[in-house]
Amino acid sequence: MATPTLLDYLHQLRKQGVSHVPIDDPARKVLRELYTRGSARSPASRPPKSQSSPTPPPPTSITATGSTPAEKIASLASLADTWAPLKNLRSLRETMVFSVGKPDADLMIIGEAPGFHDEQQKEPFVGPAGEKLDQILKAMGLSREQVYISNICKFRPATKNQTTNNRPPSPEEMATSLPFLKAEIDVVKPRVIIALGASTAHGLLNSDKKITELRDSWHQFQGIPLRVSYHPSYLLRPDDGLGEKRKVWEDMLAGMEKLGLPISEKQRGYFK
Ligand code: URA
Repeated sequence: MATPTLLDYLHQLRKQGVSHVPIDDPARKVLRELYTRGSARSPASRPPKSQSSPTPPPPTSITATGSTPAEKIASLASLADTWAPLKNLRSLRETMVFSVGKPDADLMIIGEAPGFHDEQQKEPFVGPAGEKLDQILKAMGLSREQVYISNICKFRPATKNQTTNNRPPSPEEMATSLPFLKAEIDVVKPRVIIALGASTAHGLLNSDKKITELRDSWHQFQGIPLRVSYHPSYLLRPDDGLGEKRKVWEDMLAGMEKLGLPISEKQRGYFK
């Protein structure tokens, strides 16, 4: 692999939204030399580590570019794909899985991170958990196209000798990815957010409470009502009785009520 040059580094910073890089006198001297020699692209002419400027901390907020919500989401996805703070963790895989659905939806569903199937298809929630989510949406009278579906973490968390196995994202992986999700929320402006699973709830609400304590009430995230529910993969367990399905359904009914969606008597009684 080619050694990254100073220009590569500066391009990467610009992609991260950094518009100014502080330079001290030794770095200025090195840059002047590079300029007079016209060799800024040569790896050999990179300033020695001790003289280079310190890497600025990753930005905590990211702003989308573009005029329509779809363009803005696309701009965020393109930025996330090469986002150095995430790459630098070295604990996530290479393929980015950003989001799917309506970029100005009233309902935003947030999961934890892509898994094996999602990574293959570069789309969140397409594996068995995704099929379960589709069924839940259908029961609500909605489809994937009518809601916005995303994950806190945009890359599948890596494991040793990984095949089809997945792991939840770590607190650090979620915290480093969170600026993207916040920027997505600023674009989509959903009226209701549903967070699926304990990791997602912990990453968003900065809480370590059990999911049993977090669900059943409304929270706020960026000023938007947020409901926590069990992850759909939880409902895939063979021994799952109706009890857990009903709990998830009650969370969805709460979301539907908040959105003012019509709810039939039949829908109210599902999984009882
Ligand atoms: N697939 C996703 O996209 N997110 C999850 O949380 C689980 C599976």
